[in-house]
Amino acid sequence: MTSQITQTFQSHFSTSPLLAFAPGRINLIGEHTDYQEGFVFPAAVKQGIWVGIQKNDLEICRLYSMDFDQEFTFELAAFSPKKGHWATYIMGMVALLKQAGYQVPGFDLVISGDIPVGSGLSSSAALSVAIGTAISGLFDFKIPKKNIALYAQKSEHLYAGVKCGIMDPYASAFGKEGHAMLLDCRSNSHEEISVDLGDYSLILVNSNVKHTLADSAYNKRRETVEESVRILQATFPDIITLRDLSPDQLGKVQQLLPAALFPKARHIITECARVYEAAEKLKTKDLVAFGALLKESHRSLSHDYEVSCVELDFLAETSWKLEGVLGSRMMGGGFGGCTINLVRTDFLPTFEEKMWASYQKEFGKKADFIPVQIGEGARLI
Ligand code: GLA
Repeated sequence: MTSQITQTFQSHFSTSPLLAFAPGRINLIGEHTDYQEGFVFPAAVKQGIWVGIQKNDLEICRLYSMDFDQEFTFELAAFSPKKGHWATYIMGMVALLKQAGYQVPGFDLVISGDIPVGSGLSSSAALSVAIGTAISGLFDFKIPKKNIALYAQKSEHLYAGVKCGIMDPYASAFGKEGHAMLLDCRSNSHEEISVDLGDYSLILVNSNVKHTLADSAYNKRRETVEESVRILQATFPDIITLRDLSPDQLGKVQQLLPAALFPKARHIITECARVYEAAEKLKTKDLVAFGALLKESHRSLSHDYEVSCVELDFLAETSWKLEGVLGSRMMGGGFGGCTINLVRTDFLPTFEEKMWASYQKEFGKKADFIPVQIGEGARLI
């Protein structure tokens, strides 16, 4: 990939680029908890976004996406990131860096990646983090990784309209080969935990479904749990988010919340507890218990939080029935995308065959399989 970017860059701009990479992410467990300052357990993957970048001594930025085979140019003095275009993520990061006081001069940029779009591996966070890393490196801004992640999150809020949490860009920035991050989304700090799966492997099954209202449904979930927090604060004045409540307080929470809000709050409260437990199980290499937590997480996301869909439920439930599988659940924001599955390595070919055939039979659609290995976070190459 790096030599392709360099060659493409040279033929477009007649100079040689500085290269940067930022990975996509998986999430072992801890879904929809990050924007309630809860715990999540993501890891960076080997797939990601590569960029080549070089100064151009102009007042413009010239971009070329190899994957879309499209060019895009914007003037640094006047540009406005608009929703729905790949260049928005670049303009978004530039706008936020400028607001933060970094004097970003003109540059040329080539981008390519190997993250399947819409799979839920968070290609947009990887793109923003790659841009932040590349600009910081090229102009020697020395921007701390945490700030790059925060700008990437803000860019998603402002320019893509998704009020996401910090998990995706944080995981892309801080990933460590062979490790998952037990990330506390209140302090924005993490503990690295070695992922030793023995005879088992992680594999994603892409439903190839993307529901069009996913972004607005995501934002609505966030508003719903924020409303629960406001109601609960009357009785629990010390809570800032649902993360501050534990599963043994659910009885009281149920009495206080309207019936429509309670299941959503229950998901956040129980999911935070599951993340902690799952990290303990992984440390002690109790993969059976770890897999059981994945299943519980899926049930909670599907029944309580209602961010699954028939295709994801089908994939998870079909996977649970297979003898070589310890756990499976929907991963990421939901309403489509992938499931993450913990499968015995020698069972993988049978797993793929059976899952493919069942999915095809049920929905007349093709499932894709994405094996994942845990890789390093964003870096200059
Ligand atoms: C998306 C968001 C994340 C997180 C997940 C759900 O990936 O970008 O911040 O909320 O959904 O866990």
